[in-house]
Amino acid sequence: MSEQHSTDHGFSTRAIHAGQEPDAGTGAVITPIFQVSTYKQDGIGGFRGGYEYSRSANPTRTALEECFAALEGGARGFAFSSGLAGQDTVLRALLAPGDHVVVPNDAYGGTYRLFNKVLTAWGVEHSIAPMGDLEAVRAAIRPGSTKILWVETPTNPLLGIADIAALAELAHEAGALLVVDNTFASPYLQQPLSLGADIVTHSTTKYCGGHSDVVGGAVVVGREVSVPGFADAADRVAFHQNSMGAVAGPMDAWLVLRGLKTLALRMEKHSDNAERVVEFLQGHPAVSAVHYPGLESHPGHEVAKRQMKRFGGMISFQVRAGEDVAVKVCGETQLWTLGESLGGVESLIEHPARMTHASVAGTELEVPADLIRLSVGIEDVDDLIADLGQALDRLG
Ligand SMILES: Cc1ncc(COP(=O)(O)O)c(C=O)c1O
Repeated sequence: MSEQHSTDHGFSTRAIHAGQEPDAGTGAVITPIFQVSTYKQDGIGGFRGGYEYSRSANPTRTALEECFAALEGGARGFAFSSGLAGQDTVLRALLAPGDHVVVPNDAYGGTYRLFNKVLTAWGVEHSIAPMGDLEAVRAAIRPGSTKILWVETPTNPLLGIADIAALAELAHEAGALLVVDNTFASPYLQQPLSLGADIVTHSTTKYCGGHSDVVGGAVVVGREVSVPGFADAADRVAFHQNSMGAVAGPMDAWLVLRGLKTLALRMEKHSDNAERVVEFLQGHPAVSAVHYPGLESHPGHEVAKRQMKRFGGMISFQVRAGEDVAVKVCGETQLWTLGESLGGVESLIEHPARMTHASVAGTELEVPADLIRLSVGIEDVDDLIADLGQALDRLG
């Protein structure tokens, strides 16, 4: 990537150009899909452009990794085969048995499962805290052994907000890193590294890919990781990415690269549509609560306003009549497709307690049974409101 793209240009210019010069051999304007595992060497060790074997590096993946670093304002980007693969790689690169992590009380269920069911077996301990409550986070820190504060903001599925700058300060005082899962906001709406975070992770399956046609992950390590013992964080993630091997394949890297080019446009439209849907839900008698950080009544609204460009396309709401009706509403919409995942151009509806968050049932992270989660797409919003309305009017 030319340094120019990382510093001089606006977000969409970087999304379209960073890491993506026209192909040197053919002039192809779009980075080709280098569907290749190995590379001809000009004599042993004579690598062309540093490429030797595609687990270690592949030109399509390099383009995506450089683009991500430019979009998040970081030192180095890494592309993975899924969001969880990226998270696992970061955690195993930076932690050792006996280390401790503070984890949000409403983290994505799969992230929590990674801590609760996988990393505990390797001697990594965790405590759960509401990340919006700085005193609770401070109390959860174990001086000397807490090495990471893990934050999602906004959270999945309750749209909780955490103050990234304040948590970065807390983490650094304790000699720990702040890692932010930026999946819900996307790099267009929120830039955690500029607020003091050390590492950002994404499920690129969501807004970055944007079309529900790829599973992927990204990690960006900040320019200055000044916490003693972690100055080499980017090198450690690079070493573990290659050693553990959960890399993004060339086709998947290309799909995410293409998605990023329209990220700004899509996020504006997702946010416009979500604001209208929130307004509709607030006025509907079947709805008992609406969770959206753009609402002035949301407890994290002021922080969200400070750290996000807009409030995004994710909404959750609760229905007055309880769980059975929430489940039925999810099955009665036509345009809103019943399905897991989020962040695509099409609108999705789901019941977190029985679907995305079933793995946290019975834990401190259990979600309300009357909760419905919406991923608001970029269709015509009047059609979306009419469809949701007919389901709520009939069942609510
Ligand atoms: C906030 C968040 N982080 C991480 C993940 C995991 O990403 P993936 O499914 O790509 O492994 C998800 C998936 O839903 C998510 O919503």
